[in-house]
Amino acid sequence: MRVLSGIQSSGKLHLGNYFGAIAQFLELQNSGNECLIFIADLHALTTVREGARLRELTRDVALDYLALGLDPFNPNVALFRQSDVPEITELFWILLSVTPMGLLERAHSYKDKIAKGIAPDAGLFTYPVLMAADILAYDSDEVPVGRDQQQHLEMARDIAIKLNQTFDAKYIDRLNASKHGQDVHGILKIPRARIQDATAVVPGLDGQKMSKSYQNTIDLFGDDAQTKKRIMSIKTDSTPVEAPKDASMPIHALLKLFASPEEMKEIDRTFREGGKGYGHYKQRLQELFFEKFGAARAARRELEKDPAKVEAVLAKGAARARACAAPVMERVRQAVGLTR
Ligand code: ADP
Ligand code: TRP
Repeated sequence: MRVLSGIQSSGKLHLGNYFGAIAQFLELQNSGNECLIFIADLHALTTVREGARLRELTRDVALDYLALGLDPFNPNVALFRQSDVPEITELFWILLSVTPMGLLERAHSYKDKIAKGIAPDAGLFTYPVLMAADILAYDSDEVPVGRDQQQHLEMARDIAIKLNQTFDAKYIDRLNASKHGQDVHGILKIPRARIQDATAVVPGLDGQKMSKSYQNTIDLFGDDAQTKKRIMSIKTDSTPVEAPKDASMPIHALLKLFASPEEMKEIDRTFREGGKGYGHYKQRLQELFFEKFGAARAARRELEKDPAKVEAVLAKGAARARACAAPVMERVRQAVGLTR
């Protein structure tokens, strides 16, 4: 099975990204499946409008992945930049030409951004089609994503079916005759989403969803002093030390991501019974954070000194990705008439 996942290089990675997405991607490399993991720099272009910054963020995501344990020597794994695979933008155009406007107009993420007053451009509007190209160009079987991406996955499936039925007159009959669309042979393979429901939303410093757009993040690779300061600034209330604490405070959910089950039991007990101040819990979170990410942070500092190594990993990944895309693009070009 071929599993594909991508993450935008639109900001520094934070705990929400780690527990919500990256941890699962890293587990995949030991699943025996082929894993294509890419950095969606073309998608990031819809929000990052400064060349030097996009270049830095893209390199950062690659460093982050490698430091966190993505193994570039694992023969099942390819890590690459989206923009290093020109087949993606070619397929994007072909898919655009069969994508109904109405499908894109219904996209939640687009509607949300318009509602927030963001001036829409065609890049933002067609974002899901580029994402469909990412997925479909490699004959991906499965795409692990957070719930927020579910609609984008459904759109990728719809667009694949649309292309298949437009350029293959018998496709719909075969599709109707089959129980699960997945196994019907078509020009494009229909992917499956793997929605990761188990991972709850990681709260940020202020208790809202941790997100770079809310500036409430704890970054995975921020400097030590800054990271400690941010942990100390997690929102709490003014409950005195001896009184019971409110387990709906973000510090509780954050501790739960790191603490062992036994330690969490003890934390729950002291939350119920009181006796410990919030400062104590924040200090513990600092320790747990550095215990968990200390090795990755050190590895990243080493890797940073060797940009050629990171570039070599990305180049190897891109070659692998392009080899996966080549036969798919050949089928597509044949079917739509872009070959002689
Ligand atoms: P941000 O909200 O900071 O812009 P993205 O939208 O780029 O983050 O998210 C990238 C991935 O990380 C997505 O798969 C998303 O599901 C996951 N993710 C982001 N924030 C959180 C969070 N607070 N809790 C759980 N998962 C998250
Ligand atoms: N839109 C995804 C996100 O914001 C990133 C992404 C781009 C992606 N292309 C993809 C995820 C293809 C999975 C498959 O998280």
